Amino acid sequence: MDITVEPREQLLGQTRVPGDKSISHRALILSSLVEGTVELEGLLEAGDPLSTYKCLQGLGVEFYGDWNRLKVKGKGLRGLREPEDVLNAENSGTTARLLLGVLAGQPFFSTLTGDTSLRNRPMGRVTEPLKKMGAYLDGRHNSTLLPLYVRGGDLTPIRYTLPVASAQVKSALLLAALYTSGTTEIIEPVCSRDHTERMLCYLGSGMKREKERVILETPFKLKARRIQIPGDISSASFFLVAAALAPRGELLIEEVGINPTRTGILDVLEEMGAGVKILNKREYNFEPVADLFIKSGASLKGIEINSKIIPRLVDEIPVIAVAALFAEGETVIKGAGELRFKETDRLSALTLELRKMGAVIKELPDGLIIKGKVRIKGSCCSSHGDHRIAMALAVAALFARGETVIQEIEPVQVSFPGFFELLQNLTA
Ligand code: S3P
Repeated sequence: MDITVEPREQLLGQTRVPGDKSISHRALILSSLVEGTVELEGLLEAGDPLSTYKCLQGLGVEFYGDWNRLKVKGKGLRGLREPEDVLNAENSGTTARLLLGVLAGQPFFSTLTGDTSLRNRPMGRVTEPLKKMGAYLDGRHNSTLLPLYVRGGDLTPIRYTLPVASAQVKSALLLAALYTSGTTEIIEPVCSRDHTERMLCYLGSGMKREKERVILETPFKLKARRIQIPGDISSASFFLVAAALAPRGELLIEEVGINPTRTGILDVLEEMGAGVKILNKREYNFEPVADLFIKSGASLKGIEINSKIIPRLVDEIPVIAVAALFAEGETVIKGAGELRFKETDRLSALTLELRKMGAVIKELPDGLIIKGKVRIKGSCCSSHGDHRIAMALAVAALFARGETVIQEIEPVQVSFPGFFELLQNLTA
């Protein structure tokens, strides 16, 4: 399906965004491993968490009630059952990588696959350390690509240094560590999002955390506790940037997760000249939450973004690249090579599509150099089957001259159903 986006002058309103995708996956998985029933409030109702939900059903987990107040009948660590069919993570890298960690601890046979995009994303970063812990995994390309089959069981703890910062890999290893007895230590080059660590602490682990180092002592008993999921700051970012770029207006987004491992976008907007006010700070299950307010009309300036901050805004690079188009001077993004392994190669997709709109962009092996204040014109663009590329292009289209057609917008359903309707409402 295609959509046509017309230019706009104003973005105005007060809204919420759907539940945090990363926290939703973790809430579904960890509550399935608890003994007892857990209520999840505010889960993201979208393709990716639905993939996790279906895989967990395949492993025998039962769910009750409305999606917005889902009750999970946890099976306990040892209660999952051998799936009768292949588990399908579809487009969701988080589903695939986190579940591989859980499957590695199961004394049964399971096979995991995904859609065309996911079957081409690197899994060796997870399978390699899981094998070191004692799981048996095999699959295409020397067990680095889905479909993978797993036969696990009791594992041995490891001390492992991640070659690249990745919350998905770190989380897979922490989940696998639940099936060990002893001390698991994971070290990252730069600290990635820590939702798994926070949720494990909330559910009863006495985890030690020192910057890029996480130490988990097992076994411990996971407690059945209600989990509330805040709005996703990655989804909010499209609207924060749109508000920053609009000539007029202001925007309040309520109930957004502001975990410091995710708030790189707020630092970037501040440095570019469009500060976001953080209001009404509170906490849900060890996750900081707030309302975010931004006023339109600021003049933005180009900035430099380097590898240190990348894990804190890894999913926001597409929309940051769009902000850079309208900023004074150049924006340089470096150390973002991981973007080549997302739902699509985001560095090459952004370069190709934004150039169609007249942007002047240089593609680097690990980043982008974007010249600001070059006239952007409406064009016919493709999402490359990637939800975040589709949404970033829609934000660019709001401030281009003439209308833009975005082809293949279905992928937006994996993280933000209702995105285009909300954009329409706020810019009407
Ligand atoms: C995620 C971690 C990030 C991010 C992805 C969600 C998670 O990936 O890009 O959208 O929920 O753990 P990496 O950890 O692989 O960088």
